[in-house]
Amino acid sequence: MKLRNVLLSVFATFAFLSVVCCTSENVLSRDKRETPSLLMKYDAKAGRILKRMTLEEKIEMLHAKYYFVSAGVPRLKIADINYADGPFGIREEMEPLSWNPLHWETDSATFFPTGSALAATWDKEMAYIYGTGMAREAKLRGKDMILGPAMNIQRIPTGGRTYEYLSEDPYLNSIIATYYTKGVQDNGVAVCLKHFALNNQETNRGTVDVIASARAMREIYLPAFEAAVTKGDAWGVMAAYNKINGSWCAENDWLLNQVLRRDWGFKGMVISDWGGTHSTGSVVKGLNVEMPSKDFLGQSLLDSVRLGIIDTAVIDNRVREILRVRLAVEPVPANKANKEITAKPEQAQIAYKVAQKSIVLLKNSDDILPLDLSRIQTVAVIGDNADKKMGQGGVGAGVKARNEITPLAGLKEAFGNNVRIIYAQGWSSQQRGGFGFGFWGSRNNAQSGPSAQELENRAVEAARAADVVIVMAGNNRSVETEGSDRKDIMLPFNQEQVISKIAQVNPNVITVLVVGAPVDLRQVDPASKAMLVSWFNGSEGGHALADILLGKVSPSGRLPFTFPVKLEDSPAYALGNFPNDTPAAADIFVNLVDKKSDASQQSRNVSVYSEDLLVGYRWYNTKKIQPAYPFGYGLTYTTFAYSDISADKTEYKDGDDIKISFRLKNLGNRKAEEVPQLYVSRIKSKVEWPERELKAFDRILLEPGQDSLVTLSVPVENLKYWSEDKYDWVLESGSIRLTVGQCATDDKLSTQVSVRKGLF
Ligand code: BGC
Repeated sequence: MKLRNVLLSVFATFAFLSVVCCTSENVLSRDKRETPSLLMKYDAKAGRILKRMTLEEKIEMLHAKYYFVSAGVPRLKIADINYADGPFGIREEMEPLSWNPLHWETDSATFFPTGSALAATWDKEMAYIYGTGMAREAKLRGKDMILGPAMNIQRIPTGGRTYEYLSEDPYLNSIIATYYTKGVQDNGVAVCLKHFALNNQETNRGTVDVIASARAMREIYLPAFEAAVTKGDAWGVMAAYNKINGSWCAENDWLLNQVLRRDWGFKGMVISDWGGTHSTGSVVKGLNVEMPSKDFLGQSLLDSVRLGIIDTAVIDNRVREILRVRLAVEPVPANKANKEITAKPEQAQIAYKVAQKSIVLLKNSDDILPLDLSRIQTVAVIGDNADKKMGQGGVGAGVKARNEITPLAGLKEAFGNNVRIIYAQGWSSQQRGGFGFGFWGSRNNAQSGPSAQELENRAVEAARAADVVIVMAGNNRSVETEGSDRKDIMLPFNQEQVISKIAQVNPNVITVLVVGAPVDLRQVDPASKAMLVSWFNGSEGGHALADILLGKVSPSGRLPFTFPVKLEDSPAYALGNFPNDTPAAADIFVNLVDKKSDASQQSRNVSVYSEDLLVGYRWYNTKKIQPAYPFGYGLTYTTFAYSDISADKTEYKDGDDIKISFRLKNLGNRKAEEVPQLYVSRIKSKVEWPERELKAFDRILLEPGQDSLVTLSVPVENLKYWSEDKYDWVLESGSIRLTVGQCATDDKLSTQVSVRKGLF
């Protein structure tokens, strides 16, 4: 208990300081690349090394040496590059040329909350310290590049990797990915932004051709990659498995050479996703390293260069880019790596902080939360997820967690001897889904133990005997996984029925959703007095959840994606374009597609993004479809009053920052953090826009009764749209409305200003 208190007080201090120093700092303006890439510091040296290399040595650097290693130049004492999955914990060690684990003692790691949990903090400082935590463990394990952050836009609610990814919104995505990147790289390890780009589904991920407009790409799918490169100075990028508008991502000149390198000034290296290289010519189109094989960038590349089919200048460029990264990341000598357990207490503290700030309170009828222990003698904790560890699973993103506090363990510790806990499993999870990608092998669908009816009966009896029921519901790491998308968003394993039955015998049901993606809540919501989302929340998830339920801290997470009422409400499903695999679909969309691409020659397996810009809340708001819980939503144990909005000017021009100020007051008697959000809508625009778009937010800690003047900034640069004709960002003059509220459907305060092109 003592350690818990220390953790909490350290955290409270940190959180308080963050108010003072981060108000209105959550701004990323697209235009300014503040400093040139640090990699250029190493360019001259890279050039000198290059001059001393033979062609064979150069080619050796352009493909895998082992499954997670690419070669250096031993003769010149240039070390190999060691890669580490995954985005939220350093993956266990495997044999060099197989997926068999080595079962070492020192390769267990801290399991950090998964992607959507991190984004639910809406906190760049959390993203930064998360990155520092990842880098520290990577270093101790001898890794040079972390294969993360995973940051594709959460386009479909069923996406198998939604839990790995961050958000449905490009601005929140940009902030989190950029600060994660800085946190990692400031600590001497490179990131590898993945999966570049438009890898928004697992269905047919290895073959699908994504058809999207240039504007949707620039405004929705690419901004976070752009920000992580131009603001975070990311040194590595992983090309995705899929095609975009006809070209594989790993050999897409437009994506890698034009957008990434020319437009964004990327100076680092691009590696393929595992098995995602398709040709030797990829090296010309911008790919640096083929992983985890050498089918294309090995002997055939050497032959192609010798025959003069591929220019040596291309090889030199690709090698120089790798060398810059190699020189920027100081290698860990082999005899220093993997010598100690990396999951140290300070790492657990980071996992705890993020987990605690990520938990979203969706509902709290009768103020059932926080739990008042003076009135509770018996608590039923029900659900397969109560006692389940979530570190492993999901393939590349699995973490062999050194420690993982389950919800049940966290609650037992927090309740101590004061409260009796009855645990009932409620339902049994079985492996569900399955890989469409044979590479990874088959899965175990076995189910054993008591029957579903028995489990349900025991749960109902436990609920009957308790004052309060905490149901640990949701998905698990087999339901949400790389390699397959969910077929629907219903809660699996008979949970809905069990929860409804429990509610019939006990009205005090608190449902905790252990998910990384949206689920259909139509049955569970009415059966629950309170609901929370507690994610796949890492090594300290159980402690964080207990502290929220008991009110040691007020909940402060906010949804990074929309919970639709039902799957069919969501954009890609409503339009019938997921999954869409007919050639006709590509034809319908041909007008929206970048004219430079060759959409007319689509292969059969296409995914047509005809919702265009209307992804996530942009769709629900524009089409006036009421979600179950909107993007940005989250309650806490107090209420906040918003008042007195004002803009610092009435008219703004290109290059200005619009500064919107308002007063925020904590009306309750508990300290809590609020996440005010600023959305921009266009008034009488000639260009089509979503109803509103997130353009700024902050996290403000207020003591009971305290109020504060909050200022949020919106760079005018960030109001531009991507013009396909001009191949550039264009500012449309006119009036805009700035709405400040608690989520994407909240209109607490609003004001209007105008923006103008050029000088007044
Ligand atoms: C995944 C990547 C991962 C790689 C290596 C791929 O299947 O898409 O995210 O980093 O495997 O494990």
